[in-house]
Amino acid sequence: MIAIGSDHGGYELKQSIIRYFEEHQIPYQDFGCEAAEACDYALYGQAVANAVVSGACEKGIVICGTGIGISIAANKVKGIRAALCHDCFSAEATRSHNDANVLALGARVIGEGLALKIVDIFLNTAFSNEERHVRRINQLECE
Ligand code: RB5
Repeated sequence: MIAIGSDHGGYELKQSIIRYFEEHQIPYQDFGCEAAEACDYALYGQAVANAVVSGACEKGIVICGTGIGISIAANKVKGIRAALCHDCFSAEATRSHNDANVLALGARVIGEGLALKIVDIFLNTAFSNEERHVRRINQLECE
């Protein structure tokens, strides 16, 4: 199950990604927002992050205008490793090296085609499980 959420800046791209999920029979849960009216990205970033750390969803996707505010919101939740990716190399590397569990996208930064490709890579790249990457991820979890 993939958790997805956005503010108004990411609403249209969220709907495109949901269409992609439906075309590919990928189960998802939409945490809002429900329309393109102005709203607050922190609430949606936190909702997606909480769904991932609770185990209800295996990964999350968060979208705002830049992807920055909503990625900061998600990363405030303990256990979340949210990666803001606007290129394919970063999307693959953050799964393989960082075991990122949330992908952040900026809908005002990249186009729909590239965003969908990044989503595809993010969802289909496994964590390498190499000792050095496991060690570094564990070092991220400070109290
Ligand atoms: C909303 O105008 C915009 O600030 C928001 O979508 C996001 O880019 C914040 O980081």
